[in-house]
Amino acid sequence: MATFKIRPAAVEDCEEIFRMSEELNIDEKLPGSSEYVTVESLKQGGFGDEKFFHAIVVETIEPADGLPKKNTEEESTNQNCSTDNSTLPDSLVEKAANQRSRLLGYATYSFCFGTYGPGRVLFLQDIYVEKEHRRKDIGKALFIELAKIALSKRCQEVNWHAFSWNSGAVEFYKKLRATNATTKINLHSFFMDYKDISRLVTESKEADQ
Ligand SMILES: CC(C)(COP(=O)(O)OP(=O)(O)OC[C@H]1O[C@@H](n2cnc3c(N)ncnc32)[C@H](O)[C@@H]1OP(=O)(O)O)[C@@H](O)C(=O)NCCC(=O)NCCS
Repeated sequence: MATFKIRPAAVEDCEEIFRMSEELNIDEKLPGSSEYVTVESLKQGGFGDEKFFHAIVVETIEPADGLPKKNTEEESTNQNCSTDNSTLPDSLVEKAANQRSRLLGYATYSFCFGTYGPGRVLFLQDIYVEKEHRRKDIGKALFIELAKIALSKRCQEVNWHAFSWNSGAVEFYKKLRATNATTKINLHSFFMDYKDISRLVTESKEADQ
């Protein structure tokens, strides 16, 4: 089984995050990438002067094929073995492995403030694990990391949205013992798209004239 670690995202991860976000949007039946969601806008939004989101990523820590792997004792004593690297320092082997490590999942989040009680809130926007690595506790590990971040920032709540038809995700959240705000407190989620907010502003300007 692939071993993995979770770490804060770096600007160099944006291409992989973009790739995974496109897969997530297919899963979520959402339009996905547009002129507003590109590798460049991810770099600006997550790592530029005006930060709009934070991210953590899941990285494999398995050595990739073709990279120096420490030979076993048996391989090292085999005269036919032309690639004996058993004398390589562990740090070099590890470094090479890390250079080729790939990302298996990610989560993006931001902070907000709820005057209704919790004060500081961590809002989770995306959570994604690649299809072939699901059901291996990686999503849960991402959530545990988000919970640690929330506690370290003195947040009293973690919030997010889910489509009711996304039964896999809903089951996952149930397993985490999260509260369904729609069924429990009748909370509904609203949004206004660009057209709606522009109309509102235009109408208010017209009313002022
Ligand atoms: C939702 C998602 C992040 C879960 O990640 P994951 O790595 O597969 O989940 P885990 O392996 O950590 O599962 C944790 C628990 O939830 C349960 N669970 C996870 N997916 C489940 C599913 N589809 N159906 C039922 N239970 C599920 C697991 O059985 C596990 O329970 P256990 O602790 O008793 O073993 C992943 O399925 C995913 O990326 N889905 C596509 C994107 C998506 O829908 N994101 C959420 C948008 S709201």
